[in-house]
Amino acid sequence: MKVLTVVGARPNFMKAAPIIWAVSKHNESAAADSGDRRDGPAETIHHLLVHTGQHYDELMSGSFFRDLGLPRPDVHLGVGSGSHAVQTGEIMRRFEEVLLRERPDVVVVVGDVNSTLACSLATAKVAFDPVGSRPLIAHVEAGLRSFDRSMPEEINRVLTDHICDLLFVTEESGLQNLSDEGVSASKIHFVGNTMIDSLLAFKAKAEASTILEELGLRDHTENSSARDSVHPYALLTLHRPANVDNREALLNILAGLEELAAECPIVFPVHPRTQRRIREFGLESQLLMVGGERKEERRDGGKTHHGIIATDPLGYLDFLCLMRHARLVVTDSGGMQEETTCLGIPCVTARENTERPVTVESGTNTIAGTTKEGIRDAIRRQTARQFAEVGPKQWDGHAATRIVDVLVRSNQERILSRPSLIAAMSEGATRAPKRPAAEGDEN
Ligand code: UD1
Repeated sequence: MKVLTVVGARPNFMKAAPIIWAVSKHNESAAADSGDRRDGPAETIHHLLVHTGQHYDELMSGSFFRDLGLPRPDVHLGVGSGSHAVQTGEIMRRFEEVLLRERPDVVVVVGDVNSTLACSLATAKVAFDPVGSRPLIAHVEAGLRSFDRSMPEEINRVLTDHICDLLFVTEESGLQNLSDEGVSASKIHFVGNTMIDSLLAFKAKAEASTILEELGLRDHTENSSARDSVHPYALLTLHRPANVDNREALLNILAGLEELAAECPIVFPVHPRTQRRIREFGLESQLLMVGGERKEERRDGGKTHHGIIATDPLGYLDFLCLMRHARLVVTDSGGMQEETTCLGIPCVTARENTERPVTVESGTNTIAGTTKEGIRDAIRRQTARQFAEVGPKQWDGHAATRIVDVLVRSNQERILSRPSLIAAMSEGATRAPKRPAAEGDEN
């Protein structure tokens, strides 16, 4: 069985990595079982990793492959940046060539980025033979809905879900959303969250990160425990076009953070899009840049600086360490709402909505909107709260194992049903009613 998994942008890497580990485990146990099974050896999976190249910088891609122990991609499409149409169209064109060459049994797409939609759409329309055989398409993180069609990710989510054969859902709201949209229950599998599989797998290793010391946020003393010696700080990320592409919108959010910045340092690893906007809008003076020659400015006579401390984008382990020890997280990211829920860290989401309502129900996340007052008030409320490290249902570190089990089973079922499928398709073709001639058809 040949499975091809697609990654493209930063949030894909930690969602796909556990699937690759689960495939390896499946292959190990298939090899060990082969002598004992009455129905012959269990099928192993030949796995291929395809990177579209939507994100290409070392800090947005390369470092994640290393931190997560991901293998080098078998295929790199090298697409790079562009408008939505250019990026999506170019990924489709290049991915179709890979499909026709590799002829996988299953294509796995994750999340809601342009690469997710482009590769599922190319797969849904490919035909390996005259009866239209194509791979099964599996969407990991299906069913999430913000109900805000101005978000490119919402378009990607809705369209991807409706052309996939297997929908792997992370939270119960996803089951309801898919059912409301008329998606057949037979396609839907509530497996949990592979992003949380990665988080649980790397939580302990992330403690070895030295990022807190590098930012002057932890004093290393022999006697005290690491946790006790961490200075209080908050963590900030902003990258959504609606928040950062407009000067007023960005200034509003920064104004909402002023009170917090006076109380403790706010660490701000800045996405490339946001870095560019900060430069264009002339807002550098509002931030204390850390890195390069200005690194020494982060400490002031042994005291940690307050204010917003901007850094380049950070790798997975450094970022996980920062998230785990933060007093509060302020973000417009989707994934961080989930990661903070699992870690029991208060989160303020600088957006008008969320497609991940379980994070709000669990109490760790609050939707602040994007006004100065909304963000300031949400920060006041959330800093006063404390949470336990308990994840929602099925966020137990085993989502990817469940996914691989379903992939193997579904592929076997499809092989068994193939002769009847082909017969049904050719019967359908001969029985299909003739399309009535439309006006102008005779031309
Ligand atoms: C994409 C996803 C978004 C996800 C985010 C995480 C879509 C529609 N959006 O948004 O859901 O939350 O990734 O980062 O797929 N750039 C670089 N280096 C890189 C990648 C991007 O400098 O490696 C810059 C380019 O100038 C590019 C801009 O960032 O134009 C935006 O990148 P793009 O992939 O278009 O969207 P993101 O905003 O990153």
